[in-house]
Amino acid sequence: MREGFVVPDKWKWFTESRYGLFIHWGPYAQWGRGEQVLFREHLNHEEYAEQACAWNPRHFDPELWAYTAKKAGFKYACLTTRHHDGFCLWDSAFTDYSSAKQAAGRDFVKEYTEAFRKAGLRIGLYYSWIDWRLPAYFDGPQKDPEGWEIVRTYLHNQVKELLTNYGQIDHFFFDGVWPRNADDLQSVELLEEMRKLQPNILINNRLGYSNKIDGYRADGGIGAGDSDTLGDFGTPEHAIASEATRLWESCQVTTWRLWSHVIGERWRNTDVLLDMLCECAEKGGKHGGNLLLNVGPTADGQFPPEFVERALEIGRWLDVHGEAIYGTDGGSLTEFITRGRQTMKDNKLYLIIRFWDGRPELRLADLTSRVLDVELLTTGQSLPFEQDGDTLIINGLPREAPTRLFPVIRITCDGKPATNEWGEVRLWEGDPERVAAWARERRGASVYVDGRER
Ligand code: GLC
Repeated sequence: MREGFVVPDKWKWFTESRYGLFIHWGPYAQWGRGEQVLFREHLNHEEYAEQACAWNPRHFDPELWAYTAKKAGFKYACLTTRHHDGFCLWDSAFTDYSSAKQAAGRDFVKEYTEAFRKAGLRIGLYYSWIDWRLPAYFDGPQKDPEGWEIVRTYLHNQVKELLTNYGQIDHFFFDGVWPRNADDLQSVELLEEMRKLQPNILINNRLGYSNKIDGYRADGGIGAGDSDTLGDFGTPEHAIASEATRLWESCQVTTWRLWSHVIGERWRNTDVLLDMLCECAEKGGKHGGNLLLNVGPTADGQFPPEFVERALEIGRWLDVHGEAIYGTDGGSLTEFITRGRQTMKDNKLYLIIRFWDGRPELRLADLTSRVLDVELLTTGQSLPFEQDGDTLIINGLPREAPTRLFPVIRITCDGKPATNEWGEVRLWEGDPERVAAWARERRGASVYVDGRER
């Protein structure tokens, strides 16, 4: 446990970003059945490799990807340089099984890093430890010490190569550590070398647990929570779960299930995707709370139109409401779950309204700070309000929701927004006496059945 963890300055960009783009792309897109088609369908290795080597995505335009990502409001991206099939998207000196040495003849990692950096986005690289072509990875160091040594050296060399040849890398996402652990992989040693090559890099938690190094007993998987301590940030997958002692980033699909391009996949609606971003920001606080939202480009190198449509819609929302997301300090200050989510920044409290009920009045309990100003951020309209003790009553809201997505109300207070005990401990927690006291308060002439008043 790293009690009192403070985000170092070099990683502040991460907490301020809140929103990153995950890109799952490789030769597997040609099958249109997910990034794991080789294993899931137990395909013939030779036939798979032949088709992988013939892969030549003619419409891959990294500048168009970067332009779209930027317009959609993403602040960083993370590209699969190599997934579990072992096919590399860069010009690796350690294998010919790559886009550079085969039909495409292109170093996609180079093109991606250059284009995204130029567009002002931070750069992330995904790298899988697994290589389904290599039995020694699965046999491991006990069963096949010699084969294992070759595999481990290969993996270390490739990671170092990626961190040497492509400029500043901000974010590194390991995956596929199963069935190995940090001792087999010497991932702690590798980490040290990675930090020498890239002193500012952020490295995720999928590094395997260690029996040798106390405090590095990582779960090594996709687990959320503080069960592992190895790695700079946690990676809850298909889940939003905050961590108290380090940064975290929830990775989520835009479709229903798979990461790479899948023919016939179903797509989540824009409001569901935006809600995930708002939830990460709300739960985030000082320890990150980012959303890494995925796209699986098509085999010929294009973002699917379903993705572009949704991403740009969120981008337009962020153009207006971005201050309620980027660089915020988390939220959930008062009881507001019935209407939406909250975030805070300095002396501002943002109410992100998920459900618009068409009433002109909104009542917010438990805000103890003095309110100076209330604005409907969506339209720029200033709203009349009254404060009665800890209750804030906002008026003048339009009947019609001012956006198809989530309207936002910005409340400016005379200091950091503060709440009373109710706001802090909510209904189901704390001393029940405070609920009893409230139930007793000004009961008037209504009818009770607790034997004392009728
Ligand atoms: C899982 C999957 C993999 C995907 C990754 C993203 O571990 O095995 O296909 O790339 O999650 O987090």
